[in-house]
Order: sequence, then C-alpha cells, then structure tokens
Amino acid sequence: MNLAVRETYLAFGTPDFTEAEIEAVARVMRSGWVGMGQETLAFETELADYLGAPEVVSVNSCTSALFLALLAEGVGPGDEVIVPSLTWCATANAALYLGATPVFCDVDAGSLCLTPELVIARLTPRTKAVIAVHYGGYAIDVRALRLALPGRVSIVEDAAHALGARHPDGRRVGASGNPVCFSFYANKNLSTADGGAIALADPEKAERLRRLRMSGLASDAWSRYTRASAVFTGGLSELGYKMNFTDLQAAIGRVQLGRLHEMSAARRRIAGRYRDRFRELDLRVPFQEAVFGPDHARHLLVGLFSPEATGLGRDALLLALRARNIGASVHYRPLHTMPLYQPYAPDNGLPATDHLAEKIMTLPIGARMSVGDVDDVCDHLAQLINL
Ligand SMILES: Cc1ncc(COP(=O)(O)O)c(C=O)c1O
Repeated sequence: MNLAVRETYLAFGTPDFTEAEIEAVARVMRSGWVGMGQETLAFETELADYLGAPEVVSVNSCTSALFLALLAEGVGPGDEVIVPSLTWCATANAALYLGATPVFCDVDAGSLCLTPELVIARLTPRTKAVIAVHYGGYAIDVRALRLALPGRVSIVEDAAHALGARHPDGRRVGASGNPVCFSFYANKNLSTADGGAIALADPEKAERLRRLRMSGLASDAWSRYTRASAVFTGGLSELGYKMNFTDLQAAIGRVQLGRLHEMSAARRRIAGRYRDRFRELDLRVPFQEAVFGPDHARHLLVGLFSPEATGLGRDALLLALRARNIGASVHYRPLHTMPLYQPYAPDNGLPATDHLAEKIMTLPIGARMSVGDVDDVCDHLAQLINL
C-alpha cells in the first residue's frame, strides 16, 4: 500500500505558543514599556531559580551569549578555542569574532559530544577555552571535563539545545558555575522568537556581561528613565555592544518557562513513541545515546541512517521524506568541511565526525507534535527503508 503524502508540512521544530504567551505580549505592549526593563529582570530571576544558577544575563541570541562569554573569559587574538565540528556555526564563530582560532575537535560516536580525552588531544599552550556543546540536549559531564583540563583553560557551555537537561551529578545544565549559553530561537525547547541567556556563578563577571550587552552602560534603559541618580552616573568605561533582551521577549519567556515542564513531558512522550514504533516496525536505527533517558532535553532526535541499515543513502532518504512533507533535517554538516573554516580544518580530518557526517538525520520532534505525526514519520520511513 502506498502511503499518501502528508497534507501539512511537519517541521523538525516548531514553537509551542498558546493564548497565554499572546496575552503576555499584549500586556507588555499595553504597558508602554517594551524595551529591557522589569519584565526582563523577572525573567532572569525566574530562569536563574529554575536552573539553580546564581546569575542569569539575558541577551538577544545564543550567538551573542557565546561571543560575550568568551570575551568575559579573556579570549582574544592568538588564543585557541576548542570546539566540536559537529555544531551550529555560531559555536566556532564566537571564537572568530574575537580574533581567536577555532580548533575543531572530534566527538564520541554514541553521545555525539566532546569527551575529556578528545579535548585533551587538541590541547596546546595557546588553548584559552573549550566550548562544550550539549548536542541535541545531551548533557556533557562538565565536572569530568574540568578535572581533565588545566586551570588556565575556561569552559564555556553551549546549551542552545539543552534547557531542561541534567548533568550526571543531577544538577541542571546551567548550574555548573561555568558560563552556560542558552538559545531561545524559534525552534528551541523554550522560545522567545529570538533571544538567549548566559547563566553563571561569578557576580562580577555577570555585572560586566550586563554592561557589555548594553553598549557598555552600567545602568539599563529602565533605570535611566526611572531613577534620577542613573541620569548622572554610569558613564562609559568599556566598549560594549547592543545585544540586550527586551520585555516583549521576556513576557513570552516567562510564560514558556512556566510551561517548560509540560512541554518537556510532551517531548518525552514523542521520543518514547518514536522508540516504540521503531521497535514495532523493526527499524534498526541507532539514535543518539541517552535521548530516551530521563536527563536528556530531547531538543533533537538524531539517528544514524546508514546505507547498510536503510538500503538508501541518507541524502536520498531525507529528500524522499521531504517530498512526503516530513521535515527531516541534518544537524550538522561538520564545520571543518565548510569553505569558511578550511584554514582551521585538521589535516587528518576527524574520524568519528567524518564517519557520522553522511549518516546522521534529525527527525521532527516538538511539544506541538501528536502521536499521529510520529506515526506518519515512522510509517513513511518504514515504507522507504523497506522498498
Ligand atoms: C549548538 C548551537 N549553538 C548556538 C546556536 C545559536 O543560537 P541563536 O540562534 O540563538 O544565536 C544554535 C542555534 O541553533 C545552536 O544550535
């Protein structure tokens, strides 16, 4: 039997907004203050509570968060920053913005993440920082990474995928004390359309980050409008950037944060349905290790669709799924294979990353998806794979 093409396109990640988010935005719009102010402060406090992080500094994207976090760690020209190649370009670009060199590192084939051993193999006297990417929502053991690294090397965590994940020691991603960078982009587990945040422990660094995100000013716009003292104090002493959050985004974010538990449970159900249906249909596709466990944020559902297991090349399978209105995707084409990063490509490649590159495929997952959506994906896959 030939399955019908899905009527609607199933995207790999869509935001889960309700009337509550819409009402929160309207409330802030009606208040007359939409820039960074009290709503942003409330969002930062609530996010810090949720994460178990002493400080949260919101910014306009995770790209900005990574850039500012490296800047605050003192990364600059001549420094090396170890990053996985299997990541979004923002991870490596954060180093390039600062004149530093990205040093591409391989990943473990099961977790699809850096390990202490792999990072140590890329260490040099010029290494200033490592960006640990919690790929797909898998929380790296950053304690083990810290123990393996010399004290002079900073760890910045790229948790764009990992809001809600837990480390092996039970703490939430965001509570390690390292600068931990989150994304609230449209397809993320918590979305404010665009946006990001840095969770960290050091209050002085947090204060500096607050200045750096706001043109170098010591006080935010709300204080300058409302507090007479702020008009006369807080001159510029450092070159800053315009990378702040807004109260409109914070209004969405506060509602999303209140709904995160419910949205995470929905992701867990969707992942579980995939696992059950794959077993039922006897589709032998290994997924990222831990994606079905309790501590994973399940931002991405990434499987290894090798030609041996599927009878089809990954690209052919992806195109066939797209033709059936199923938004499968690839996270990621390894950065070291792209023209921009050729000067930094390791001479002998990265064995595990290169091996994974042609096989990984991301299936749609999100809090908005129904069990019927998962069944559609699985039924189409079964038909294509068993051709
Ligand atoms: C691993 C990773 N890091 C960083 C980013 C950048 O996030 P943003 O779009 O908020 O700048 C992304 C975005 O998708 C990402 O996937």
